[in-house]
Amino acid sequence: MEKKTYYITTPIYYPSDKLHIGHSYCTVAADTAARFKRQLGYDVMFLTGTDEHGQKIQRIAEENGQSPKEYVDGIVKGIKELWRILDIKNDRFIRTTDKDHVEIVQKIFKKLYDQGDIYKSEYEGWYCTPCESFWTERQLKDGKCPDCNRDVERTKEQSYFFKLSKYADRLIKHIEDNPDFIQPQSRQNEMLNNFLRPGLEDLCVSRTSFNWGIPVTFDEGHVIYVWVDALSNYITALGYLTEEDGLFKKYWPADVHLVGKEIVRFHTIIWPIMLMALGLPLPKQVFGHGWLILEGGKMSKSKGNVVDPVVLVNKYGVDSIRYFLLREVPFGSDGLYSEEALVNRINADLANDLGNLVSRTVTMIEKYFDGLIPEHIDSKDPLDDDVLKIATELPFKMEEYMNKLQFSNALVEVWKLVGRCNKYIDETTPWILSRDESKKGRLGTVLYNLAESLRYVAILIEPFMPNTPEKILSQLGIEKAEFKTWDSLKSFGTLPSGIRVKKGGIIFPRVEFGKEAKVEKKEEEKVESKPEITIEDFDKIEFRVAKVLECEKVEGAKKLLKFKLEVGDEIRQVVSGIAENYKPEDLIGKNMVLVANLKPVKLRGIESQGMILAASENDDNVVVITTLQDIKSGSVVN
Ligand code: MSP
Repeated sequence: MEKKTYYITTPIYYPSDKLHIGHSYCTVAADTAARFKRQLGYDVMFLTGTDEHGQKIQRIAEENGQSPKEYVDGIVKGIKELWRILDIKNDRFIRTTDKDHVEIVQKIFKKLYDQGDIYKSEYEGWYCTPCESFWTERQLKDGKCPDCNRDVERTKEQSYFFKLSKYADRLIKHIEDNPDFIQPQSRQNEMLNNFLRPGLEDLCVSRTSFNWGIPVTFDEGHVIYVWVDALSNYITALGYLTEEDGLFKKYWPADVHLVGKEIVRFHTIIWPIMLMALGLPLPKQVFGHGWLILEGGKMSKSKGNVVDPVVLVNKYGVDSIRYFLLREVPFGSDGLYSEEALVNRINADLANDLGNLVSRTVTMIEKYFDGLIPEHIDSKDPLDDDVLKIATELPFKMEEYMNKLQFSNALVEVWKLVGRCNKYIDETTPWILSRDESKKGRLGTVLYNLAESLRYVAILIEPFMPNTPEKILSQLGIEKAEFKTWDSLKSFGTLPSGIRVKKGGIIFPRVEFGKEAKVEKKEEEKVESKPEITIEDFDKIEFRVAKVLECEKVEGAKKLLKFKLEVGDEIRQVVSGIAENYKPEDLIGKNMVLVANLKPVKLRGIESQGMILAASENDDNVVVITTLQDIKSGSVVN
């Protein structure tokens, strides 16, 4: 049976500066929704990227003494790195300077022009450069941009216009007939009452006063308005209007465009009208989330109140930050960000509630059952019913909330189970049961219920906190993939008894506000130094850059991955023991450093023609060595 598809997008970001925690908010949300759907078995396309044209970028680049392309290349690198640090698993990253995007946008513009939906005239009005937004006199607020309250510029130039007005009635009807199209509801009312019902004016869609944009192919000197260029990314990324439009056919219309509230207007007026004019179906939903604000207003560089997500991740860990972003504020509303609130959440929800539950459960299984998960003997104790009911209903409730993008409510539900389990320990008093041999069966059932509930929790939090589940599951001794899936939550009691638990470090150490967080650190292993070698010794080893073409797990070998590597003109097969640290799909396309002249060996019967280099801090933390920038495979490393 063909898998159901799910196409989710974030806005493409302006590489006008380093991104802050406010930008990360939307991307973490989209990533969580995408991971959730993958868990459910959907075929997911999660798109993000960068919106690189426009007057704003051109000006910043000029101020920096760089060409716009040089400037954006530097920032985009940082953005990609930020998504890596935040464990964002996007399927595609689009840049509006990509050649294929540029060509498709030009085709779209030409098509709309040829069919009479775009016409030439003159624009006279106001322009807000930071928002890249046109405004009429009537729309200004006290002479300033109504969105960002900054100064606007008088603009008068020859321009092309897009006939928004022609499609306004159709769009109003679409919104009225499809209540889910704009969510939350309040944003729908805002669009209808403030913009659509008062009447739409045609939109200026080309500029001549600067040149950092996609040129209009049939009129030199005009570049396409940056929002027309940017919005098109949602279909250009899928190959619309090209011969390779398989992705477009498969994924369009999008299931949801996640956007911040100030750009809902572009996504629910300009974008659907562009699609109508192109004869394409509209996205199923545009969800406008709120802003993370600091005391003093929305985070912005000009106010000097930005919070750097990388600093937070280094201090508190990526899963804690992801959890906080999605738990603290109902998605859709604005939320006040403070580090104090973050620290409180980490201590209360993660360190106390979840961390302690894991540690108490594993400790008791070690102490009372020699570390083996005990058997579940259905003791029909009413105290068990509540735990079982909450756990069994949890996946359904999660699905319901996640389908509505109510991340915070979904997490509240998971923590109801966590809280109930902690209470269950206090009610059942395992330490008292342990004193009476005749209560051993009952004690086993209690501990089994706790372990099985934790398995539920671990699996259900994966979309939010991708690194934590494995820490919980490994402490419970759960290794087999079949006990880590969404499907394995169909019936409570799937966890086999007899598995050996493995007490590990503290999953979430408590943190103190104002102090550096103590990030979990294992005892450093002393590495014995090796005797000195000469350069001739070193020269005997041939290191080469190798690009991963294919990568798969070796069946029956927990630690092994099999690679097909491109090393210049040569293809090599290499086996490496990093399967516990990397998923095969995450390594494809990456550069590795290969010891190319190592004598081939057979591992589990498979020939390995060389060795991939990796750094290891300890057995758990193994990191593959790669190149900082892309470089041709086969390049010599020395
Ligand atoms: N380039 C346009 C989007 C084009 S999509 C076809 C753009 N870029 S942006 O970089 O300025 O903003 C990207 C997203 O970040 C927006 O959805 C915006 O709402 C979001 N955020 C920026 N600051 C934010 C907060 N402080 N809080 C939450 N989201 C915020 O707009």
